[in-house]
Amino acid sequence: MKGVVLAGGLGTRLLPLTKVTNKHLLPVYDKPMVYYPIETLARAGIEEVMLVTGGNNAGDFLRLLGNGKEFGLKELAYAYQEGHGGIAAALALAEDFADGDKIVVILGDNLIEKNIRGGTEDFARQKEGAKIYLKEVEHPERFGVPVFEGAVPVEGQRPKIMAIEEKPKKPKSQYAVIGIYMYDSRVFDIIRSLEPSGRGELEITDVNNDYLRQGTLTYEILEGWWADAGTSFQSLLRANNLVAKKRASKSD
Ligand code: G1P
Repeated sequence: MKGVVLAGGLGTRLLPLTKVTNKHLLPVYDKPMVYYPIETLARAGIEEVMLVTGGNNAGDFLRLLGNGKEFGLKELAYAYQEGHGGIAAALALAEDFADGDKIVVILGDNLIEKNIRGGTEDFARQKEGAKIYLKEVEHPERFGVPVFEGAVPVEGQRPKIMAIEEKPKKPKSQYAVIGIYMYDSRVFDIIRSLEPSGRGELEITDVNNDYLRQGTLTYEILEGWWADAGTSFQSLLRANNLVAKKRASKSD
């Protein structure tokens, strides 16, 4: 399985911090933000990774990350996204790199506490389709939100997801679809069939809904904390604090 880190976008929600740099290069405690998703992939046993970025600061990623050796990767490849077509459009650039393999996609501003190796190993055994991660959150309206059949998930039970709604005004559950997605090679055909959404982007939620309709989407509930560091100043501060706390507890 190969990994893809999506680190493009304009970062407008964090202006002026992002006026002269890419949001994924901003600090989160003691490291640039993009280190964390790469470490998440490396810890899950992924050795070949492609980073997709764009804009004026693309060269800085190469200077910062080089060939990925520091993370224990065998290969760190790069792709350059022109324009801002959304998450699914950025992912489309990884088709040749994926070369028919399954992929784990992670958004460059998504930080998690725990190792997802269990999930990647599970997905390696899954015959086809996709896997997503859910996390219970306070403000689901900011994210992709699953609509469950019947009750919400409780210990050990996984009720069926009927649909995923992107940033619904009235969320039908308290869960967010976090920015870690696992796909088989069909994902690139799905992306080709997408139409831009209301915000003019090819939405990853539409990709996930396609897998849902095929009946091949599985999900996990993420353990430990999740931080979507790039959504607001508050979320960036929260990510810094969570990482700082984790470091402090490790050095105790
Ligand atoms: C994106 C996805 C959304 C997902 C979120 C996770 O939102 O569209 O479904 O819940 O990432 O970070 P965006 O960051 O584009 O607002």
